[in-house]
Amino acid sequence: MRKKIVAGNWKMNKTASEAAALIQGIKKEVAGIAKVDVVVCPPFTDLKDAAAACAGSNVALGAQNVHWEASGAFTGEISAAMLKDLGVTYVIVGHSERRQYFGETDETVNKRTKAALAAGLTPIVCVGETLAERDGGMMEEVVVRQTKEGLSGLGDDLAKVVIAYEPVWAIGTGRTASPAQAQEVHALIRRTLAELSNGDVANSIRIQYGGSMKPENAGELMGQPDIDGGLIGGAALKAESFAAIIKAGV
Ligand code: PGA
Repeated sequence: MRKKIVAGNWKMNKTASEAAALIQGIKKEVAGIAKVDVVVCPPFTDLKDAAAACAGSNVALGAQNVHWEASGAFTGEISAAMLKDLGVTYVIVGHSERRQYFGETDETVNKRTKAALAAGLTPIVCVGETLAERDGGMMEEVVVRQTKEGLSGLGDDLAKVVIAYEPVWAIGTGRTASPAQAQEVHALIRRTLAELSNGDVANSIRIQYGGSMKPENAGELMGQPDIDGGLIGGAALKAESFAAIIKAGV
């Protein structure tokens, strides 16, 4: 049985003090929930205060990106060890906004994923097609390629990753994939994982859905056999709506 995991991707929102306040609100709402793993992913500048706010609670801390090198002349970048030292345990890798606006490729997703795993962080690796790719009949090819190339060469560590299927056309648009549409792609990703490893590993890996998930649709989405939680953007910025999604996964 896979344990559900709901993560908030705050994107470029909230100052450090706002982050601490939001986490206090989330903690109150989700205290005692053990059936769902809860993760918040604030911006880098919030992480220290966010770690203090999360301490001793059932809310885990994630970052939104990580560089693949351990240290050196990489102005503006953040290493896995730096995240780990702050108490971060998860990191989002390959979000579609990074692919779209910041030149992220399957190759760099793969490097970041390996660096995260080597440091003992759990990567949340994002895959998903654009609307043009879906309309052009390319969804399957794109999702399989991103999954295979993003996760290539991980060996036994493959079992430690979390995957987020986020159709780009559903992110921040209010347009959610239907539960059946999402389930179809989640099953495709799981079959692809079985090709990369074996059926047992593929069955143990958690695959989140992301893209306009909200309290009203979370229960039905997470009720699908291969949907193991959510990666939440907009609805994660308020304690009540984020908690309502988490409770829908219990
Ligand atoms: P959204 O974002 O929930 O606002 O659509 C999800 C994401 O980008 O991770």
